[in-house]
Formats: sequence, C-alpha cells, structure tokens
Amino acid sequence: MRVLLIGSGGREHALAMAMRKSPRLTALFAAPGNPGIAALAECVALDAADHAAISEFCRNQHIDLVVIGPEVPLVAGLVDGLVAQGIACFGPTKAAAQLEGSKGFTKRICDAAGLPTAAYQAFDRLAPAMDALARLGAPLVVKADGLAAGKGVVVAETVAEAEAALQNIFMAPGARVVLEEKLEGEEVSFFALCDGRNALYFGSAQDHKRVGEGDTGPNTGGMGAYAPAPRMTPDLVEEVMARIIRPTLAEMNRRGTPFAGMLFAGLMLTTDGPKLIEFNTRFGDPETQVLLPLLQDDLLSLLDASAHASLPAHSPALRGGVALTIVVAAKGYPASPKHGGIIEGLEAAVALPGVIITQAGTGLKDGHLVATGGRVLNITALGATYEEAATRAYAALTTVTYADGIWRRDIGWRVRGMSPAREAL
Ligand code: AMP
Ligand code: GLY
Repeated sequence: MRVLLIGSGGREHALAMAMRKSPRLTALFAAPGNPGIAALAECVALDAADHAAISEFCRNQHIDLVVIGPEVPLVAGLVDGLVAQGIACFGPTKAAAQLEGSKGFTKRICDAAGLPTAAYQAFDRLAPAMDALARLGAPLVVKADGLAAGKGVVVAETVAEAEAALQNIFMAPGARVVLEEKLEGEEVSFFALCDGRNALYFGSAQDHKRVGEGDTGPNTGGMGAYAPAPRMTPDLVEEVMARIIRPTLAEMNRRGTPFAGMLFAGLMLTTDGPKLIEFNTRFGDPETQVLLPLLQDDLLSLLDASAHASLPAHSPALRGGVALTIVVAAKGYPASPKHGGIIEGLEAAVALPGVIITQAGTGLKDGHLVATGGRVLNITALGATYEEAATRAYAALTTVTYADGIWRRDIGWRVRGMSPAREAL
C-alpha cells in the first residue's frame, strides 16, 4: 500500500513508526512531516489546508490510503473531498468530525443517545450566560465551542474566574459557549477504532495535561502519558463501549453521518461511573506515543479496515507491559515557547533498552536538530511496570542535550507503584 500521512507531530512520528512495520506498506509519504519522520517517510511540502493540492498528489502518486493525524484537517473536511474522488482516508468526514469540532454538537449527541456526561447549558450571548452563572455558582466549567488546541476550557473554582472566562470568550464575534457541571474523578483517554458501523476497543491511556509538576499551571496539549490506564478493567471497558461508544455510532448513523476513524473519548471516572468529558475524532497526542508501541497487530491493516468499513471482529492484540512517555517542551511553553534550541544525543538515548524517541516540534538548521515548536520531543520507554518504564524514560532523558528543554519529573506519579490492569482484548 502507498500511504500519505498528514501531520508533523509526535503522534504522526509514532504512526509512521508503526506503519513502517507493516508488510503491506510499499511507500510512505508525510505532509509535511518532521526530521524524525523523514527517516521513515518521504516528506513532502504540502499544506493540509490545500485540499486540491493533496488530491492531486494522491492521484499522481497512486496513494491507496491517506492517514490524517490532526483534527484541523478533519474538521475542515479533507476526508470528504478525497473520498469523493475515490481516495480512501483514515479519519471521519467533516460532519462526523463535529464530535470534536463542536462541543455543543457533542452535547446534543449526548442528549439524543443518552450518554452519561456532565449537565450543561449552551449559550450564544454573554448576558444569559452570566445569568446562568449567577444561578449555578462555582465550581463550573466554561468551554468555548470550536477547536482550541486544548486551551478553550476553564475549570473555574470561583464565580469571578468563570465570569472572566465568559467575558474573554464573548470578545470574539459569533462566540458560543457551554457551561458545564464540574465532574470529579480520575481522567482516562479511551480509544475506539470505528468503521461507521462497528467499533473496536483500541486501548486506554492517561495523560498529564497541566504544564507543571503536581498537575499545576495552565493546560497544555499534554506533558506526558502512559498506557494502559490501570483502572481500565475489562468490565469498565465493556461499560464504556456499551454506554458511550456504541450509542454514539448508532446516533451518528441515524443522522446519516456515520463515524469512521479513531473515536477518542476523554472520560471522567466518577463515583457514578464513567462520564464523557469530550470526544476527539483522531489519535491522541501524546497518547499515541504510548498506545502504538503496545500494539501487536498490524496498524496499517487496521487503519485500512476502518477506512473501508471492514473492521475485524476482535479488538487488536496488545503486548503485555506498559509504555510511558515524557514530553520535552521548549522553555516558555505553552504561552510562548522559545524556538531554535539545539538538540543532541538522541542516538545514544534510543540505543537504550526499550526506549523510543519521537519528534514533534523539530527542524533542521545548519546541520543541527533544533526546536521549532512548543512540544519538541517525546521520550518513551516500555517496561513490565510503570515504575520500570518511568525509570527507563528518565534515564534516557539524561543522555539528551537540549538546553532550552523543560519537562515534568513526575510523569506517572499516580501509577508508578501500581500494576497495570489486564487489558480487555
Ligand atoms: P476538553 O477540552 O473538553 O477536553 O477539556 C479540557 C480539560 O478540562 C479536560 O481534560 C478536563 O481536565 C477538564 N474538564 C473539561 N470538562 C470538565 C468537567 N465537566 N469537569 C471537570 N473537568 C473538566
Ligand atoms: N492528549 C490529548 C489530545 O490529544 O487531545
């Protein structure tokens, strides 16, 4: 198969590594890719927003499957245009990507399909939202509708904080907002591979969203992750599939907008059972960097089956053990990451047992690997236990030289002493 991978982050580097292992892969291109991906794929300077250029490339290069990593091209309808020309894509159509693209849409799906989620109200004007806030009080979660790269949500502990968040969101013309009950519990990232009709459990992970140690400071795209999530027992997996994932697919079908691709449910494990915080319609970043090293089956065949409504009957086989990843970000992340810092020592780090490094915001300058983005590297390690994986990943990090790098020293703090739950297969 000839594959075009869209994206340039650590998630896409992990996808490229996994697809490279497939006996069915005959050619791999990445648009735009990054220096790490360039070792595995031919990187092409195509803009994911230029749908016509992508279609033309696919036709010229006889691409059999386009694998789309990030949400922005999905929400923009890249899949629709390609599929209309007979080019198969891994990822949802524009209409189905609304599950990530609009929080209001997802809440309406929750109502229609009876999914367990936080109570909410949606608003398109500031005054009624402020009135509701005055009635509901704090704590309260304020969410801007639409994509915000993990930055559109304020978990407000006080009314003043919530008011400030509302005022901020409604500065933008046409803004819409969801006010939501604050859920208490442990968060889990839950992945289900879907083909429009069917869904297969694909694994679970937990990530660290806050920039600072002890889960403090502003939210980020994710500063580290591990898989599997130890609380995800086979019974809980089945409960989430039965109460959240399958009803969502059924409702999307009923509306004539079937969902194919990766359905990534952000869950809160509350004392009342699992509740949906949000959907993403793609692989997670950095969750993919810990999910895929545990996958035993052929990723490319699974993605292809998702695109062709032909998923197998059983969930993919995972190897035992765990994976943990540390995100190395550029100083100043998330507000204003410093670019240009030189990175060295990756070869020595990946030579260590069980260590995998994926690149995210990196580029080449004067023959050096340099930081070009907020999240720069993922240092991933496999282990029999979380403790072993964490020890290996932190040891690998000591061999990397990157003066401007910041990272958390407590990735996996919640689980380092725990043993992983047996994943449901
Ligand atoms: P979202 O963009 O919806 O994933 O929200 C980002 C983060 O905000 C989530 O990962 C949670 O940590 C937090 N969050 C969102 N909604 C809620 C909620 N209803 N209760 C508690 N925390 C929430
Ligand atoms: N790590 C969360 C996400 O990919 O949205």
